[in-house]
Amino acid sequence: MTDIDARFADLAGVRASLADVNYLADDGIAGIVYLADRLGKPILVEGPAGTGKTQLAKSVADIVDARLIRLQCYEGLDESKALYEWNYKKQLLRIQAEGGEASWGEVEEDLFSEEFLLTRPLLEAIRASDPVVLLVDEVDRVEVETEALLLEILSEYQVSIPELGTVEATQVPLVFLTSNGTRELSEALKRRCLYLYIDYPDLERERQIVTAKVPGIGEDLADQVARIVRTVRQLDLKKHPSVSETLDWARTLVLLGVDQIDAETAIDTANVLLKYRTDIEKAVKEFADNPEELAGPEA
Ligand SMILES: Nc1ncnc2c1ncn2[C@@H]1O[C@H](COP(=O)(O)OP(=O)(O)OP(=O)(O)O)[C@@H](O)[C@H]1O
Ligand SMILES: [Mg+2]
Repeated sequence: MTDIDARFADLAGVRASLADVNYLADDGIAGIVYLADRLGKPILVEGPAGTGKTQLAKSVADIVDARLIRLQCYEGLDESKALYEWNYKKQLLRIQAEGGEASWGEVEEDLFSEEFLLTRPLLEAIRASDPVVLLVDEVDRVEVETEALLLEILSEYQVSIPELGTVEATQVPLVFLTSNGTRELSEALKRRCLYLYIDYPDLERERQIVTAKVPGIGEDLADQVARIVRTVRQLDLKKHPSVSETLDWARTLVLLGVDQIDAETAIDTANVLLKYRTDIEKAVKEFADNPEELAGPEA
């Protein structure tokens, strides 16, 4: 494994580069990315749905000009889908094609060679010679036993394949693991990672995200959207609106030609922001009861 070449000069540089690709980070986010690069450690990103965990990995890959290799986790994901598996069908054909001329030892050696190996995302990331960012998305969905698979990879950047030996990374990839916190991850996994909690953005950052991501939106509308979403997040809801829902709502309003959100508009479009009937009812009641709050402080 080669030494770690720093990808970023400083924290401000990380933040600025991310902003260039329309990812609005705060110092907390940029700081961890900077440190992860310097320390050669993976980042475990937790936080509510739709707060930009997955997008962070994609955007970082973008700014360092690296290929994103993604392992999407799900219940039942195992080694053969995460790391590698042998191509049984091809091995079988190889055995059938063998007319009995070679010894079993020769055939066996051949069967477990590169030609019959099916590389899955984790191994692909370790073996890559070009710059890569590895994203292990929604790691909390796999069973604890599968989580253990990641340990060797995340601390040593290597993979042991019994038939082939140990495959070591030639570079330290940037690694992101994301979790929605549906279950606690193991201590062993946590210890190997830097921890980043991405919460809902503050008012100013959400306004910037909306401005960056919604073409054609005016400053005033972006500001109003961010403020109203913040109010809605303070309600006692089953599921609070995420940044993606803020963006959907803002795009909807632009499509509808809205310049200023009044109670009627907010009520009519609440279903874009919220996904449970009870939540929509609560928000609608809030909009109807406090129409003056929608206009904002200066109005
Ligand atoms: N800081 C940000 N800057 C720019 N866009 C953002 C930011 N945060 C979130 N977004 C946007 O919000 C949407 C949701 O982001 P993303 O899919 O990364 O969320 P997530 O945290 O991975 O959600 P989930 O837990 O549901 O997987 C994307 O369209 C993303 O571009
Ligand atoms: Mg995600």
